[in-house]
Amino acid sequence: MDDLYRMEILEHYRHPRNYGRLKDPDITYHDSNPSCGDEITLDLKIENGRVVDARFVGHGCAISRASASMMTEEIKGRTLEELRHWTKEDILDLLGIELGPVRLKCALLPLKALKAGVWGLAGWPDEEEEEQVKAEEKVSEGQ
Ligand code: FES
Repeated sequence: MDDLYRMEILEHYRHPRNYGRLKDPDITYHDSNPSCGDEITLDLKIENGRVVDARFVGHGCAISRASASMMTEEIKGRTLEELRHWTKEDILDLLGIELGPVRLKCALLPLKALKAGVWGLAGWPDEEEEEQVKAEEKVSEGQ
Protein backbone atom coordinates (compact mmCIF):
# COMPACT_ATOMS: atom_id res chain seq x y z
CA MET A 1 0.00 0.00 0.00
CA ASP A 2 2.89 2.30 0.92
CA ASP A 3 4.22 1.87 -2.61
CA LEU A 4 1.05 3.29 -4.09
CA TYR A 5 1.36 6.37 -1.90
CA ARG A 6 5.03 6.71 -2.79
CA MET A 7 4.18 6.63 -6.48
CA GLU A 8 1.50 9.24 -5.91
CA ILE A 9 4.03 11.45 -4.08
CA LEU A 10 6.53 11.11 -6.93
CA GLU A 11 3.83 11.91 -9.44
CA HIS A 12 2.94 15.13 -7.58
CA TYR A 13 6.63 15.99 -7.30
CA ARG A 14 7.19 15.58 -11.04
CA HIS A 15 3.94 17.25 -12.07
CA PRO A 16 2.94 19.54 -9.23
CA ARG A 17 -0.66 20.78 -9.34
CA ASN A 18 -1.32 24.47 -8.88
CA TYR A 19 2.30 25.45 -9.41
CA GLY A 20 2.67 29.17 -10.13
CA ARG A 21 1.54 32.50 -8.76
CA LEU A 22 -1.97 33.94 -8.58
CA LYS A 23 -2.73 37.33 -9.95
CA ASP A 24 -3.93 39.55 -7.07
CA PRO A 25 -4.02 36.94 -4.31
CA ASP A 26 -5.91 37.85 -1.14
CA ILE A 27 -3.42 35.99 1.01
CA THR A 28 0.25 35.42 0.26
CA TYR A 29 2.63 33.79 2.64
CA HIS A 30 6.26 32.86 2.24
CA ASP A 31 7.94 30.38 4.52
CA SER A 32 11.07 28.29 4.59
CA ASN A 33 12.45 25.26 6.30
CA PRO A 34 15.44 26.60 8.27
CA SER A 35 17.14 23.21 8.38
CA CYS A 36 17.52 22.91 4.58
CA GLY A 37 16.69 26.36 3.21
CA ASP A 38 13.82 25.09 1.03
CA GLU A 39 11.09 27.63 0.48
CA ILE A 40 7.45 27.98 -0.44
CA THR A 41 5.28 30.92 -1.35
CA LEU A 42 1.57 30.21 -1.12
CA ASP A 43 -1.06 32.40 -2.79
CA LEU A 44 -4.75 32.13 -1.96
CA LYS A 45 -7.78 33.73 -3.54
CA ILE A 46 -10.64 34.09 -1.08
CA GLU A 47 -14.32 34.70 -1.75
CA ASN A 48 -16.94 34.81 1.01
CA GLY A 49 -14.50 33.30 3.47
CA ARG A 50 -13.69 30.36 1.19
CA VAL A 51 -10.57 29.47 -0.77
CA VAL A 52 -11.51 29.63 -4.44
CA ASP A 53 -8.00 29.25 -5.83
CA ALA A 54 -4.59 28.31 -4.50
CA ARG A 55 -1.12 28.25 -6.04
CA PHE A 56 2.38 27.81 -4.82
CA VAL A 57 5.96 28.32 -5.97
CA GLY A 58 9.28 27.55 -4.37
CA HIS A 59 11.95 24.96 -4.36
CA GLY A 60 11.91 21.92 -2.20
CA CYS A 61 12.38 18.21 -1.94
CA ALA A 62 9.94 15.62 -3.26
CA ILE A 63 7.98 15.45 -0.01
CA SER A 64 7.56 19.20 0.46
CA ARG A 65 6.60 19.74 -3.16
CA ALA A 66 4.16 16.83 -3.23
CA SER A 67 2.69 18.00 0.05
CA ALA A 68 2.17 21.52 -1.38
CA SER A 69 0.67 20.10 -4.57
CA MET A 70 -1.78 17.85 -2.72
CA MET A 71 -2.62 20.51 -0.16
CA THR A 72 -3.44 23.17 -2.76
CA GLU A 73 -5.81 20.72 -4.44
CA GLU A 74 -7.47 19.83 -1.18
CA ILE A 75 -8.01 23.32 0.24
CA LYS A 76 -9.98 24.70 -2.69
CA GLY A 77 -13.58 25.18 -1.63
CA ARG A 78 -12.78 25.04 2.08
CA THR A 79 -13.49 27.89 4.45
CA LEU A 80 -10.73 29.82 6.18
CA GLU A 81 -12.30 28.79 9.47
CA GLU A 82 -11.90 25.11 8.58
CA LEU A 83 -8.31 25.62 7.46
CA ARG A 84 -7.36 27.43 10.64
CA HIS A 85 -8.01 24.17 12.41
CA TRP A 86 -6.10 21.93 10.05
CA THR A 87 -3.45 19.90 11.78
CA LYS A 88 -0.47 17.89 10.67
CA GLU A 89 -2.76 14.85 10.55
CA ASP A 90 -4.66 16.41 7.65
CA ILE A 91 -1.45 16.66 5.65
CA LEU A 92 -0.18 13.25 6.69
CA ASP A 93 -3.50 11.73 5.61
CA LEU A 94 -3.00 13.26 2.17
CA LEU A 95 0.53 11.90 1.87
CA GLY A 96 -0.44 8.55 3.30
CA ILE A 97 2.99 7.38 4.47
CA GLU A 98 4.86 7.26 7.76
CA LEU A 99 7.54 9.93 8.05
CA GLY A 100 10.51 10.37 10.34
CA PRO A 101 11.15 13.71 12.06
CA VAL A 102 13.27 15.22 9.24
CA ARG A 103 10.81 14.30 6.51
CA LEU A 104 7.97 15.45 8.71
CA LYS A 105 9.33 19.00 8.61
CA CYS A 106 9.40 18.77 4.82
CA ALA A 107 5.80 17.57 4.71
CA LEU A 108 4.61 20.30 7.05
CA LEU A 109 6.28 23.27 5.34
CA PRO A 110 3.24 23.98 3.12
CA LEU A 111 0.94 23.64 6.14
CA LYS A 112 3.06 26.14 8.07
CA ALA A 113 2.63 28.65 5.25
CA LEU A 114 -1.08 27.90 5.05
CA LYS A 115 -1.69 28.27 8.77
CA ALA A 116 0.31 31.47 8.99
CA GLY A 117 -1.56 32.82 5.97
CA VAL A 118 -5.05 31.97 7.17
CA TRP A 119 -4.44 33.07 10.75
CA GLY A 120 -3.07 36.40 9.57
CA LEU A 121 0.46 37.44 9.02
CA ALA A 122 1.61 36.93 12.59
CA GLY A 123 1.75 33.18 12.17
CA TRP A 124 0.61 30.27 14.28
CA PRO A 125 -1.75 31.22 17.12
CA ASP A 126 0.71 30.37 19.86
CA GLU A 127 3.42 32.45 18.16
CA GLU A 128 0.93 35.24 17.71
CA GLU A 129 0.14 35.13 21.39
CA GLU A 130 3.84 35.17 22.23
CA GLU A 131 4.33 38.23 20.06
CA GLN A 132 1.43 39.89 21.79
CA VAL A 133 2.92 39.15 25.22
CA LYS A 134 6.32 40.48 24.12
CA ALA A 135 4.71 43.64 22.73
CA GLU A 136 2.80 44.18 25.96
CA GLU A 137 5.97 43.64 28.00
CA LYS A 138 7.77 46.23 25.90
CA VAL A 139 4.95 48.72 26.42
CA SER A 140 4.93 48.19 30.19
CA GLU A 141 8.75 48.47 30.33
CA GLY A 142 8.52 51.76 28.52
CA GLN A 143 6.13 53.19 31.12
FE1 FES B 1 13.99 20.78 2.51
FE2 FES B 1 12.51 18.71 2.47
S1 FES B 1 14.68 18.74 2.42
S2 FES B 1 11.85 20.73 2.71
